[in-house]
Amino acid sequence: MTRPPEPAPAARQRARVFFAIWPAAAIARRLHKEGERAHGLTGGRRMRRDTLHLTLAFIGDIPRERLDALRAAADTVAFAPFTFRVDRIARWRHNHIVWAGASGLPGELESLVTKLNAALAEGGFPVERRNFAAHVTLLRNARGELPAAELAPPIEWPVGEFVLVESDPRPEGAQYRVLQSWPGVFGSQS
Ligand code: 2AM
Repeated sequence: MTRPPEPAPAARQRARVFFAIWPAAAIARRLHKEGERAHGLTGGRRMRRDTLHLTLAFIGDIPRERLDALRAAADTVAFAPFTFRVDRIARWRHNHIVWAGASGLPGELESLVTKLNAALAEGGFPVERRNFAAHVTLLRNARGELPAAELAPPIEWPVGEFVLVESDPRPEGAQYRVLQSWPGVFGSQS
């Protein structure tokens, strides 16, 4: 029996959404290349280059009519553009993810996440209670060991905006669609 086609995301009553920072193509290329290197050691499934991102806050499934309230919450978040230095690649044993990130959480990123979470809580949205682990997932289902390593030279990722993304889970891997972006403003308190 063939399954009826899935409705297009915009036609669904619920949306699976999250806030993220999304790298420009040149940064995504470097991240993707690091994923390729690690893949030789660990195996697993490489994330597509155009899908690489760093999640700031995962919201999950919400009724589509709540999207305006979500946008309004994000409207209240002010931040100044900053550079995120990605200097580490490692593998988590518990979920077999190979990721790129920073050896220490940069203050500007922490501040952005804190502001976003406060705005989300204020708007009645669920907020992650676990400590924020800043990471870009490069590989999933990576079964081989990967000694944590410094990236030399580090990847200097200019962060000028954050985005709201809708995820469309598909058997071949999630498809992502940016719904809106919020630029940083020079001079904002970070
Ligand atoms: P991950 O790469 O570590 O799985 C879309 O799923 C994005 O939201 C991914 O970056 C994913 O991180 C992140 N995320 C955070 N919490 C999640 C959750 N509870 N379920 C699914 N994805 C989550």
